[in-house]
Amino acid sequence: MTKPQPLTRHIVSINDLSNREIETVFQVAYGFLKELADHNIPYRIGRGTSVASKFILASLFYEPSTRTRLSFESAMLRLGGANITSADPAVSSAAKGESLADTIRVTSNYADIIVIRHPRDGAARLAAEYSQIPVINGGDGSHEHPTQTLCDLFTLRSKNRGLRNMKVAISGDLKGSRTIHSFVYALARFGATIDPLPAPGMELPPHVARRLREEFHCRMVSKSPNEADGSIDALYVTADQPHQLSLYAEPEIDYGLVLQKKIDAVYVTRFQKERWTEKERPYPKIDAKFLGEGKYSHASVMHPLPRVNELDAALDSDRRAIYFRQAAYGVPVRMALISLLLHLHRSKSLHKFPGGFAKAEHPLYVQRIGTGIQCANPNCITNDPAERQYAANKFYIMEDHSPQRCTLRCLYCETDIEAEASAHFVVSDSTRKTYSPGLAALKHTPADKLRHLVIHNSEADAEAAGFAPRVGGKKAHAG
Ligand code: NCD
Repeated sequence: MTKPQPLTRHIVSINDLSNREIETVFQVAYGFLKELADHNIPYRIGRGTSVASKFILASLFYEPSTRTRLSFESAMLRLGGANITSADPAVSSAAKGESLADTIRVTSNYADIIVIRHPRDGAARLAAEYSQIPVINGGDGSHEHPTQTLCDLFTLRSKNRGLRNMKVAISGDLKGSRTIHSFVYALARFGATIDPLPAPGMELPPHVARRLREEFHCRMVSKSPNEADGSIDALYVTADQPHQLSLYAEPEIDYGLVLQKKIDAVYVTRFQKERWTEKERPYPKIDAKFLGEGKYSHASVMHPLPRVNELDAALDSDRRAIYFRQAAYGVPVRMALISLLLHLHRSKSLHKFPGGFAKAEHPLYVQRIGTGIQCANPNCITNDPAERQYAANKFYIMEDHSPQRCTLRCLYCETDIEAEASAHFVVSDSTRKTYSPGLAALKHTPADKLRHLVIHNSEADAEAAGFAPRVGGKKAHAG
């Protein structure tokens, strides 16, 4: 009898990992550090093992990278495996116009695990759909960068016992930074308080803020309740039940205390100029003067790097600066993730990673390619002309409090189609050949019947596609 193959697991979002699985990654990473660290530098992996010998990592990078690609490749070599790399789209078949979907179908026969970085939001999810082997997201547009978050949490964890009741300030381009998006979800899930310090006009995107509130039980608390405009000056405080099982046995959150508490870490990000049309914007600089304020006296200073001008190099010798250690942890953390995804551990005590994505919690509308609406995010992979034939639009139907409404969330880039953008949408029924205005029909249709529906941009689009208005439950007759 043949042995059943372990299922393929993809890590596209930090939310593809449960809190317990994140703890498992850390447990394995600590194990590698204990066994293989440099004798003089405890956070640096200095030796190798052979657990992944004969396994191959393919690194497909469609955007510049230093830390992510090199630490993944170093991790694979330290595990005893090998790397094949496509680090420059100009010298791969992407330059000839090959789609990501085809590249992945081909590459997944050449390697055992893929790490991908791409400028489009949702590209890693599309890659995972076409891959037969595990896909790890090394950063997709401004969507997410889950393995950076693992390094960030591991760094925080090495300084503090747990994250619950911690207060973390996040500074800079909170809109364009994918590292921030993965990080805030994780902070919220582990019960940390987030103190946003955005550059002007670079606040957290509305869909991220909405998810923090609605899915991860964050509360928005004004820092200065007497001020009329508390929109930027807000703290996100997690409610007392973290989203998923947490292994940290810590006391309930005391909101009063948290608000008065000093900052435990300041996480700095650079202006993501490649995601903005303007090449310069007013931007906060974190330096000794900024950190001179009493509340930062014990704050660790973190940065996913590269830094440009937003973090003063004079801080490098400050006892609070931990960003180079944070980058060094990329190796043990990625060794742990790769070895878990490849099922290389024999220990029964390690919680095993089951296959697939985290289970979808919302009904999914899958649209036939070439029909209906498009994702509203122009940078979504589904809006890439090279991928249109391969990426069907797929939207989660998110509950809205009103019975007549619902919000659509793109499965790939996870942005929501906001109410104004969907104001003229109609839902067409391909069995009856009728359409009804608004999105209410989606809410009243059982999940297994959703495949009969098509969302059109407008009545005119539905009529052009051969649908007639549905009046009082019946098709309206012309004339
Ligand atoms: C980040 C990235 O690429 O998103 N870098 C990294 O992976 N360490 C941060 C950035 O580029 O600003």
